[in-house]
Amino acid sequence: MEIPAWPQATERESELLRAVLDSPQWGGFHPFVTEFEGSFAAYQHCQYGISAFNGTVTLELALSVLGIGPGDEVIVPAVSFVSTATAVSRVGALPVFVDIEPYSFNIDPDRAAEAITPRTRAIIAVHFGGTPADMNSLLRLADKCGLALIEDAAHAHGSEWNGRRAGSFGICGSFSFQNGKVLCAGEGGMLVTNDRDFADKARAYVNQGRKPGESYQKHFTLGTNFRMTGFQAAVLLAQFESLPEQIARRTANAALLKILLEDRSAFVWQKQPEHVTQNSFYLLPARLQEASVSRNDFCQALNANHIPCAPFYPFPLYRNPLYQQPNACWQMPCPNAEAYVKDAFWLPHRVLLAEKEAVFEIARMVREALESAGGERTWQAGSA
Ligand SMILES: Cc1ncc(COP(=O)(O)O)c(C=O)c1O
Repeated sequence: MEIPAWPQATERESELLRAVLDSPQWGGFHPFVTEFEGSFAAYQHCQYGISAFNGTVTLELALSVLGIGPGDEVIVPAVSFVSTATAVSRVGALPVFVDIEPYSFNIDPDRAAEAITPRTRAIIAVHFGGTPADMNSLLRLADKCGLALIEDAAHAHGSEWNGRRAGSFGICGSFSFQNGKVLCAGEGGMLVTNDRDFADKARAYVNQGRKPGESYQKHFTLGTNFRMTGFQAAVLLAQFESLPEQIARRTANAALLKILLEDRSAFVWQKQPEHVTQNSFYLLPARLQEASVSRNDFCQALNANHIPCAPFYPFPLYRNPLYQQPNACWQMPCPNAEAYVKDAFWLPHRVLLAEKEAVFEIARMVREALESAGGERTWQAGSA
């Protein structure tokens, strides 16, 4: 049984890369860039897509376009990849870390509400692992308090909440196409939005303050060069063709794996609210809630059997040395985040890309890993 490798390339990537190589334009003005922006934005139910060279600068871009900077506060979840917070720091604003919900792995809207001050300008919601954050509550809160809602959708290509795709709820959604993402070009990023004014400003920002239809040498606003290259767009166009089938496969395999492990109450899988109508399954996260089982030993046992499994983040973002410095952030009490770092883990998406038959074998290895990491006190029905 083999877990598929990631990233995966076919002849299609080679063909499109060759087309860029054979063209006189290798950079951000290759037509593939515009083509991918349009297709991907539409797929995420947005009118506009502004690509960039990664999904960290797209977050910085979103904050810059909104005019967020020194003196402002932005609410972020205590658990995410560091870019969610460093984007705020890099524009000179203060990240305010709030707790995540007990089992969704996503920002808790009630805790976000408690963190709002007169200086708060925005909330960044991460759709962790591909499961959308509570868009109903967060949108209501943002509207009520006059805040921008930015979706960090780096994990959520194709994910849906009530039939609407990630990135189409807030002022914008920020995507990453980094090497491990479900849609990938090694590096890459895109902001999607339905707000024309925001889109125009973002497009000007990534392209040195130029305006469409105006001279290349004329710069109207302070911008920079964040442009995605034609090579990135070529790979992304090719990868995009496989995304729907891969999401369907991961969805089926995640459901099967959970059924096969249903009797193992030690696993509390990431909660899927009824509003989630599609999940990218970038990650399959869970909490391992059995006192006698070592989470780290469990992950190591799986890795030893060539099943990739990560023991979550080692600490909430605010415990990084960067954020331990004076005045680097503000932190609300985060008991859930502190508990997750001790007992959570995730399986990466390539595990869920295996053949259906392999899922039975994966479930067997998960059981074995659980036993070798200390067993489980909860017995199967009828076996006690
Ligand atoms: C939640 C989240 N936000 C932002 C990023 C940053 O994306 P990139 O690596 O493309 O800069 C990542 C990447 O891993 C991420 O997981």
